[in-house]
Amino acid sequence: MNLGIRGSAAVARGTLMALRGEEHIPEVILCPSFTALSEVRKVIARSKIDLGAQNMAWEKQGAYTGEVSPRMLDEVNVEYVILGHSERREYFCEDDEMVNKKVKAAYQNHFTPIVCIGESAEEHDAGETQETVADQLREGLKGVTLSSRQRLFIAYEPIWAIGSGEPATPSEVAETHDYIRGVVNQVVEPKRAEQVRILYGGSVDGENAYSFLREEEIDGVLVGGASIKLNEFVEILDAAGDVMEGLEEGEI
Ligand code: PGA
Repeated sequence: MNLGIRGSAAVARGTLMALRGEEHIPEVILCPSFTALSEVRKVIARSKIDLGAQNMAWEKQGAYTGEVSPRMLDEVNVEYVILGHSERREYFCEDDEMVNKKVKAAYQNHFTPIVCIGESAEEHDAGETQETVADQLREGLKGVTLSSRQRLFIAYEPIWAIGSGEPATPSEVAETHDYIRGVVNQVVEPKRAEQVRILYGGSVDGENAYSFLREEEIDGVLVGGASIKLNEFVEILDAAGDVMEGLEEGEI
């Protein structure tokens, strides 16, 4: 709930410009607030940038005042939807059961869900990170099977790292991602593993993005605060491009 229509469109335009002519173009999904979706869609039309929403109701339509349905998102050609962000869980009482309904609704409507999971500071300090994310995955993905064309994005976001300026270390994240992949393989069929992307989120910025993206286990980043400052966001895009180049040249 930071940028409005104008600010979101400006980030979208800046992103387009930053990627123009680049040799290595990372997969970029912009997820503005609901009110800015249409405008951002117009800006990124005919580009490779995709559009995502930050939340979604699980019901198709009806008396659910204040909610935004999958059909409504479909009208603006949304392709992705962030589900179960820790702020949704903390301030709006979303639990794993609701996240599960939303994940299923996302697939029914041909969206790719970006399912957020992550432990609190207390859970982290108590060494309960793996247990926490495993529970969130088992409950949130219960009954979900992927067809050969469907993708699943998991965003591992330790709550203590979100907006705090104190990210987790890349090696700690890589270890947790490895564990998450194992759990996802158990929950969703292992043969679909290559359709599952595991992102890291939590105080990613222009300076540290490369150190996360270069880790083999980290498939991408979910960026909050740094995505609303264009300069910072462009640095993250550059870091992603550098990693792609390094991979191609066998340096990573
Ligand atoms: P941050 O936010 O990048 O500002 O830490 C991440 C998020 O809200 O998902």
